Amino acid sequence: MTQQTLVLIKPDGVKRNLIGEIISRLEAKGYVVADLKKFTPTKDLLHKHYAEHEGKPFFEPLVEFMSSGDVVAIKLEGHRVIEGFRSLAGATDPTVALPGTIRGDLGRDWGLKVQQNLVHGSDSEESAARELALWF
Ligand code: CMP
Repeated sequence: MTQQTLVLIKPDGVKRNLIGEIISRLEAKGYVVADLKKFTPTKDLLHKHYAEHEGKPFFEPLVEFMSSGDVVAIKLEGHRVIEGFRSLAGATDPTVALPGTIRGDLGRDWGLKVQQNLVHGSDSEESAARELALWF
């Protein structure tokens, strides 16, 4: 079942020069970068992207953080890539993400209002279709 998912390298990953390290892990796993772009997302785009989190305490800090600098948006393709990328990324909280995952190996817990956890990946086929249409 070949799928596509949206992967974002968040501003913390871009600022820490981890673009190559993160993409290397995706390619080493066998996934294909079908499309890619780097830009600072507008708050309008982020409000749409994170619509399901509107009203949560971390929503506004999350939008501020995500619009604070460039993000790399990747259309990633492969067999069961939606689930596979989430395994590679590890748990949301970098402190508890397992070693071997992107967040477990590279993520830092800054003790801030929002998890600056390097990457985002769509969580279902429906989310992937919706998010890819927004970002590409
Ligand atoms: P992401 O996969 O981009 O989706 C929502 C983001 O909100 C998540 O990654 C984290 O960056 C952030 N997030 C999710 N849950 C929390 C939380 N409990 N506290 C702070 N930030 C969170």
